[in-house]
Amino acid sequence: MCPATSRGWDTVRIILLGAPGSGKGTQAAKLAECLRAKHIASGDLFREEQAQGTELGLLAKGYMERGELVPNDVTVKMILGRMSQAKGALSCILDGFPRNQEQAAALDQALADAGGPGIDRVIYIEVSEEELVKRLGGRWTCRAHQHPYHVVNAPPKTPGICDIDGSELYQRPDDNEETARRRLQVYFDQTAPLVEHYRAQGILATVDGERTITDVGKDLVAALQ
Ligand code: AP5
Repeated sequence: MCPATSRGWDTVRIILLGAPGSGKGTQAAKLAECLRAKHIASGDLFREEQAQGTELGLLAKGYMERGELVPNDVTVKMILGRMSQAKGALSCILDGFPRNQEQAAALDQALADAGGPGIDRVIYIEVSEEELVKRLGGRWTCRAHQHPYHVVNAPPKTPGICDIDGSELYQRPDDNEETARRRLQVYFDQTAPLVEHYRAQGILATVDGERTITDVGKDLVAALQ
């Protein structure tokens, strides 16, 4: 069920906030389709840059392999560039950005400088650490467009093949147990404090991310109404 665009949800800026494996990518893709919004996923953009062998991709690679954050300056530049391309026509859903206080401040400042509306809603998808580890360990990702699957929770119709575009599924190198645990640590240290940052702005809604993918999607839409 999509939010009613007649209520103004056709030109919105939404942030999906949550730990690695909480379901941001899964839900952002569905919501973007509903709202005809631009889905801007920082991790997906870094992986695209790597696949193209760009300077930014090469820089990001080492950080991603270690489960560390890519430096703020290049990350903020990349995301603001994508947001400005989406300007006017579309809503946009940020997935994986911002990820620390500096990135959040840079986003707030850029939106204020542009003189337009700020962030409309931040949805925090809450999932326990135990469940996150299970999800990351069982995730398979589509090589062409990064659609996420899970060996138990969301299996593809044909093993190893993406239902949507027919491309090969692979396991992300940073989903190995050691790097996944490091990513979770980085999340708790640097990103989790943003929950309070956005709660203080009065734009945070929390959804229980441990329900089924369909139910989380419904709760997310309800949180936008
Ligand atoms: P990124 O690619 O953004 O990874 P992440 O935030 O760690 O998030 P994930 O993609 O792991 O999880 P998700 O929440 O999207 O979950 P998903 O929907 O796939 O970042 C990777 C790296 O890039 C970072 O470590 C960093 O190095 C760098 N980077 C990215 N952004 C950055 C930034 N802003 N600043 C600096 N560096 C940055 O779901 C996970 C699994 O669970 C799937 O298998 C899915 O099928 C399953 N699932 C989803 N929902 C449910 C459900 N409700 N029930 C059961 N299973 C479910």
